[in-house]
Amino acid sequence: MNRARRRFSKSLFDRRAQLGCVPVLRTFASLMILSAAACRRDGAAVGGTGGGLGSTGGAGGGRLDAGSGGQGSEAGGEAGAAGRADATVDVARDAAVDVRSDAALEVRRDAALDRPGDAAASDGSVDAGLAMTLRAAAAQAGRLIGAAVGASHLSEAAYATTAAAAFDFVTPENEMKWDATEPTQNVFTFAGGDAITAFAQQNGMKVKGHTLVWHSQLPAWVSGITDATALHDAMINHVTQVASHYRGQVIAWDVVNEAVDDDGQSLRDSIFYQYLGAGYIDDAFNAAHAADPGALLLYNDYGAEGAGAKSDYVYSMVKGMLARGVPINGVGLQMHTGPADTSPSAAEVAANMQRLEALGLNVVISEMDVQICASDVDTQKTRFHDIVAVCAAEPLCLAVTVWGVTDKYSWLNGVSCATPQPLLFDDNYAPKPAFGGVLEALLGL
Ligand code: G3I
Repeated sequence: MNRARRRFSKSLFDRRAQLGCVPVLRTFASLMILSAAACRRDGAAVGGTGGGLGSTGGAGGGRLDAGSGGQGSEAGGEAGAAGRADATVDVARDAAVDVRSDAALEVRRDAALDRPGDAAASDGSVDAGLAMTLRAAAAQAGRLIGAAVGASHLSEAAYATTAAAAFDFVTPENEMKWDATEPTQNVFTFAGGDAITAFAQQNGMKVKGHTLVWHSQLPAWVSGITDATALHDAMINHVTQVASHYRGQVIAWDVVNEAVDDDGQSLRDSIFYQYLGAGYIDDAFNAAHAADPGALLLYNDYGAEGAGAKSDYVYSMVKGMLARGVPINGVGLQMHTGPADTSPSAAEVAANMQRLEALGLNVVISEMDVQICASDVDTQKTRFHDIVAVCAAEPLCLAVTVWGVTDKYSWLNGVSCATPQPLLFDDNYAPKPAFGGVLEALLGL
């Protein structure tokens, strides 16, 4: 994918050079945003309705391939300059679309060719046809629909069938974290992550790597480091080796995870902050970009999805990173939430997404689950619907990922209560009302 997309973005870049629009480049996203802003205006007239991920607009290149963009470039110049501010979001959307359109095309192709709707799983317990409508609905909405996947469950037929039928986007739940990929210094073990990328490739699914730098699930040899240079070198080496290994197999990375303190007043007092100061975040992003220039690089956190001090801190932090030219492409909003429309409300999430988008950043719902320890499946359905509907409405929201395939294996089991039932499929892989809520939101219902 990355190579294709790099190839795609390079050819796009050359095309823009022909059109006489060469922007100052910072990140892949800003590459697309800036250059599209300069060109898109005049391209739009040529490309018809464009923008939407529907069959007409998806392949941005298609519009450009219409070969008439050149004619418009003069006019575009003025229009581009005049309309740049308001053009940012929709052309950035096209930038995001360029990133996603391959996936959507692939999904549509997969959906149409590879998986006859009513193919039941070998154990007959999974309605693959119904499950697959989620992928198709997401493709139609121009979004990716994802799930956290555990490699140890892939040998369970119902698990693998449900995951492959319902989702077109995978995040390894634990297999790409530091303790799993570099348990001993400079000895890398990728078996778990490789099993998940292989599963994704076999099923036409995209992958987001999770996560390169996080204060949790660190191997003891890292937690035991007491020298700043040694820690910095270890971090850069880890990011470089892991991102290089998965180059071409993932479309995005959670580069840094949960670095902001819950009070929203400072960065979390992690070993990285203690020894390296705030700069470790920029350094991690620069190293990830150097290792895989084609991947979208995200900052991922919880408790910053809506309004509040932590959300404000994350906003100002990523704004500062952009100002320093750090190659950040977006923000992941984890969304581990309860059923009520509070903390955060859907309206708060929309407002937070909009201010991040105004910076030209993509957003994703990265780890959604809705525990119903003291609630019911219908309230849960509404919660999933309302949050997914926000993403479907926001031009730079690329994807919604739920943090698990089945209630049976949720990390919340025994954490928020004995049976939190937080996901879209129950213990028997039957789709729950929540599944319907996500489907309806993706269909704009
Ligand atoms: O791999 C060991 C295994 O060898 C051992 O036998 C077993 C028994 O204790 O533990 C296994 O490690 C567990 C690991 O998941 C892999 O299954 C850890 O104990 C367990 O703590 C770990 O939990 C993960 C948790 O992150 C760790 O913080 C959850 O599965 C995972 O869903 C959760 O995901 C995080 C995201 O990465 C970041 N955002 C919050 C989210 C929920 O905490």
